[in-house]
Amino acid sequence: MRVASGFLASAVGVTAAWLPEVITRDVAIIGGGASGAYAAVKLKEDFNKTIVLVEKANRLGGHINTYEDSKTGNWYDFGVQTWNDYGPATAFFERMGVPVSTPGRAVLVSRYADFTTGATVNFMPPANADRVAALSRFLNATAPYEQYFLPGYWNWPARDSIPEDLLLPFSDFVDKYDIRDAVHQVFQVTGMGVGDMSEALTLYVLGAFGPPMMRAFLGQGASFTPDTRRNIALYEAIQARLGADVLLSTVVTASVRTSLGHVLYTKTADGKARIIVARKLLMAIEPIAANMAPFSLDLTEQSVLSRFKFSTVQAGLVAHPSLPINGTVINTPAASAPNNYLALPKPDFVVRFDYMGGSDLFRVMVVGAGAVTAERARDMVRQDLARLMGAGTLPAVTANPAAAAELEFRAWVNHGAMHMHASADELREGFIQKLYALQGRRGTWWTGGAFSVQFQSILWAYDDVLLPKMLA
Ligand SMILES: Cc1cc2nc3c(=O)[nH]c(=O)nc-3n(C[C@H](O)[C@H](O)[C@H](O)COP(=O)(O)OP(=O)(O)OC[C@H]3O[C@@H](n4cnc5c(N)ncnc54)[C@H](O)[C@@H]3O)c2cc1C
Ligand SMILES: *[C@@H]1O[C@H](CO)[C@@H](O)[C@H](O)[C@H]1NC(C)=O
Ligand SMILES: *[C@@H]1O[C@H](CO)[C@@H](O)[C@H](O)[C@H]1NC(C)=O
Ligand SMILES: *[C@@H]1O[C@H](CO)[C@@H](O)[C@H](O)[C@H]1NC(C)=O
Repeated sequence: MRVASGFLASAVGVTAAWLPEVITRDVAIIGGGASGAYAAVKLKEDFNKTIVLVEKANRLGGHINTYEDSKTGNWYDFGVQTWNDYGPATAFFERMGVPVSTPGRAVLVSRYADFTTGATVNFMPPANADRVAALSRFLNATAPYEQYFLPGYWNWPARDSIPEDLLLPFSDFVDKYDIRDAVHQVFQVTGMGVGDMSEALTLYVLGAFGPPMMRAFLGQGASFTPDTRRNIALYEAIQARLGADVLLSTVVTASVRTSLGHVLYTKTADGKARIIVARKLLMAIEPIAANMAPFSLDLTEQSVLSRFKFSTVQAGLVAHPSLPINGTVINTPAASAPNNYLALPKPDFVVRFDYMGGSDLFRVMVVGAGAVTAERARDMVRQDLARLMGAGTLPAVTANPAAAAELEFRAWVNHGAMHMHASADELREGFIQKLYALQGRRGTWWTGGAFSVQFQSILWAYDDVLLPKMLA
């Protein structure tokens, strides 16, 4: 016995030196953002499944970006801002031990300028009462459709019964329901993320600014953040719960996927290989070609997922002495003056510069119609600021013509593909049905924005529908 176990021990020792560690689990989850991290907690704690969560970044949380400002000791969230009180959101924060409350809204002084010229635009936002009236007409017109796409397309109508309203370009929908006075708010809050919002299908604008958001702005629904206003706190709490079941700084490099189970070859950023053997696979990353490459998609999966188009969003924190403390400088095309609310910036564009409070920092976002490098996005921000100074909209703080180069980027994140969408014709041809037919195929289930919408709380509600189906 002694000899045998000694032999075994040394054999294992030898093996460990050159064979990767093998991790065997019920479910492997790829991506630890909103949808993947939530699913991991539920699968492990509520469904008693063994799980492993594979996350490319060195932390959970995806689009959350909490920047710690060494100058002031404050932190600033320049990614995800707030959570809508939707579905399981309140209960989930409570369960994770992260107290929440509704943050006060900073009131910023708005300046409107056309960033393509830098010139001030004499833009008049709608009167508050008109905005609220339009928003409530918007809610009335769209609430009947909510069941079709929130919290996912589970009840999506048959190909010939899709409400035509959802397939209208948004500008046509706006005119049909007389909601022009809501457009400025819809765009500035989250609608800009879809790219060309006036041309986008109404379905996808509603994915970016849907009935739950309308209710929040009409005082019929709450939104909140952690009491500490440190949004990453939620995902730190999730990480603490999941512990060693999370593999950070890890990607899948190759895979064998079958309806009976999966073998995933993974590698950490510093080169450590591990093999995951899992019964089921839950994909919680954007299903774009670059992300899907290691997952050996078959022709059916490829033919559906390759139909998706997407817009891209980048966000960062900048500082420059010309930017107005307590102000927001909003990119507003000249054609929008004084109240042509459907004249919106066309991608690729810089959205605005928003003062962050208690600092010299401004939040900036860049929206692209497709992939945009971080380098190009930062150049766009630099050039737009230079034009704003050149046209006298912002003070030129120095005679140095290279002043724009002084723009300081304190943080910048390319959030990549978001708001995955298909055309009206593809939707009429059954795109959503084909997309959802992927659920469970080859032992693989799908969550995340592409299968629902781009909101954390809504994705959690979506997971709550998906997981029982996955385990059935
Ligand atoms: C600037 C900005 C502001 C936003 N503000 C809000 C807001 O205020 N409220 C709100 O509810 N929503 C907001 N959103 C949207 C929200 O963050 C997303 O809808 C949500 O995070 C999508 O969740 P997800 O799980 O689909 O993807 P993500 O949260 O993006 O998670 C995907 C995860 O997968 C990881 N990953 C990617 N590729 C791989 C790979 N190959 N292998 C392993 N891991 C990988 C990523 O690192 C990431 O952690 C905002 C988004 C942005 C960009
Ligand atoms: C999971 O385990 C807990 C604790 O053992 C138990 O209370 C719960 O009923 C189990 N849930 C399921 C779905 O099996
Ligand atoms: C919205 O619908 C409700 C109930 O159907 C109605 O009472 C209200 O007047 C409508 N509001 C608008 C702005 O159309
Ligand atoms: C910004 O607003 C704060 C709070 O209202 C005020 O105390 C401060 O003086 C303002 N700063 C500038 C430069 O306007």
